[in-house]
Amino acid sequence: MKIGILTSGGDCPGINATIRGVGKTAINNFGMKIIGIQNGFSGLLYKDVVELSDASLSGILNLGGTILGTAREKVFRKKITSPDENDREEIKKCYHELGLDCLVCIGGNGTLKTTGMLAELGLNVIGIPKTIDNDVYGTDVTFGFDTAVNIATDAIDRLHSTASSHRRVMVIELMGHHAGWITLHAGMAGGADIILLPELGYNMKVIIDKIKKRMDLGKPYSIVAVAEGVVIQGSSERPAMYFAREIEKQTGFETRETVLGYIQRGGSPSPSDRNLGTLLGGHAAQLIHEGKFGRMVALINNQISDVSLEEVAGKLRLVTVDTPLVQQGRRMGISFGVWE
Ligand code: F6P
Repeated sequence: MKIGILTSGGDCPGINATIRGVGKTAINNFGMKIIGIQNGFSGLLYKDVVELSDASLSGILNLGGTILGTAREKVFRKKITSPDENDREEIKKCYHELGLDCLVCIGGNGTLKTTGMLAELGLNVIGIPKTIDNDVYGTDVTFGFDTAVNIATDAIDRLHSTASSHRRVMVIELMGHHAGWITLHAGMAGGADIILLPELGYNMKVIIDKIKKRMDLGKPYSIVAVAEGVVIQGSSERPAMYFAREIEKQTGFETRETVLGYIQRGGSPSPSDRNLGTLLGGHAAQLIHEGKFGRMVALINNQISDVSLEEVAGKLRLVTVDTPLVQQGRRMGISFGVWE
């Protein structure tokens, strides 16, 4: 069998461990041939491919990013090759011309949706979920998330020094466009006093009251962790800038902001992300061997498993008021900026 593998969407720690997991299992356990398709779906359209061997898959386990390159093109929305061509048919043609028996697509929600559309076209595909945002429906967790939470928690830990020494409010903005998982987990692990999530929104009065109350209780500093996806009412400003300015204006306390940005997505994956990618990659090869296509590999109740791509398409896994860390945070007096 000949397998193609591509990565699409934003990079994240653990992708290379996953490529290695798929490739080495496919080659060593099942005797398959494997090719890497470069720079996402456009690499498929331009047949920009490299042979992957056991040797070329060595030495990449601990590398951040993706050795195959990635892109954010939406092949079914924008015509990559030419405005006159139908990329849907073109992809199908390229898949067959490359002699593929299956295409493995590693990506987040957008990529998995596209992978599901390829399955509908009759192609043999397997999806592997990846994103630091941890918002893919159908899996308990995505690789990349653990590494991002470690980096974000370390950043919050470091902000405590300046916050307490200068008696300041420190606002840190973390990644997560639709989902606040990184902000929730790093905020709780880093001891943030106020955690603001896109799923919950915010009430400025609640935030201001909380900061003033902490000062009254003899705690002359506060840490605010805010997700980049929190929608600011009536403003297009970055959440960190907006909250820092408003908090200083409304409380009179010196306030500073930090936007952690792409630091969260870079560098070597954590051991847990490496192993999750390795296990998911191995399961993808297993499904191909068994001829089970149109599936997304997943971690479900701590078991490596799989779900149909159709079931996950277009859905997001979001934080809710019932998420245990939200409930426990509330019980301890941590503010989520919405409840008095
Ligand atoms: O999907 C992960 C993510 O890191 C989001 O949190 C962020 O909004 C987005 O990627 C930004 O990525 P890019 O600038 O590469 O499109």
